[in-house]
Amino acid sequence: MKKHLVILFCISATLVIYSSCKKDDDMITSPPTVTLYDRVGGTTMVSDPAVPGTMIEQGRLTLRSVVDSSIFVIAADPAMSAFFPVLLGEVGSGDFSGFNALSDNLTDFLCSATGSTNSSYAYTGLSMTDAHNPATNDRMGMKASDSDFDAFIGDVAVGLSQNGVTDTALINDLVALLETTRADVVQL
Ligand code: HEM
Repeated sequence: MKKHLVILFCISATLVIYSSCKKDDDMITSPPTVTLYDRVGGTTMVSDPAVPGTMIEQGRLTLRSVVDSSIFVIAADPAMSAFFPVLLGEVGSGDFSGFNALSDNLTDFLCSATGSTNSSYAYTGLSMTDAHNPATNDRMGMKASDSDFDAFIGDVAVGLSQNGVTDTALINDLVALLETTRADVVQL
C-alpha cells in the first residue's frame, strides 16, 4: 500500500512539473502582439514636456506631438481652410480652447485606434460620420471629398516627418489606419 502511494506521488509530481514547463513553452511560442501604439513608444512613462512635473506614456506623447504639428500644417494649408472656419477664427484671435479640445480628441482617437488600453486615453468624441458632417458638427465648414481626404493625409505626413517618424513601414501602417476612416469622413 505504502509503495503504491509513493508511485502515485511520483506520477503526480511528474505531471505538475510537465504542465508548468508546458506553460513556459506556450509563452515562448506565442509572443505578445506588438501594437501600433507599442511601435510609437507604447506605455513607457516619460516626462511630459508640455506639463512640467507630470509623466505621460511615450506612445501618447508621440501621437499628440504628431497631432499638434499636423493641426498647424493643416491650419496653414489654403486647401484646408474652408473646412476649419471656427478653429481658424479662434486661433486668429488668440483663443486656443478649440485647438486644445481638437488636440485631445484626435490624440485620444489615435491612442484608441492604435491599441492603447489606457482607459484615460479612451476616445469619447463624435463618431467619424458625425464629426465630419456640418449638420452634426458646426465646427466642420463643409463636407469633404476624396481629394480633400488625400490632401489631409498629405498634411499629416508632414506632421509625422516633423516629429521624426521616418520609418516607412510605420508610416504606411499609420496611414493605412487613417484610411479605414475614409468612408465615414468623405461625405461628398
Ligand atoms: C484622416 C482621417 C481623419 C480622422 C481620423 C479625423 C478625426 C477627427 C476627430 C477625432 C475629430 C474631433 C471630433 C470631435 O470633436 O468630437 C475631427 C474633427 C474635425 N475634422 Fe477630422 N479626421 C480625419 C479627416 C478629416 C478630413 C479629411 C477633414 C477635412 C478635409 C477633416 C476635418 C475636420 C474638422 C473641420 C473637424 C472639426 C475641427 C474643430 O473642432 O474645429 N477631418 N476629426
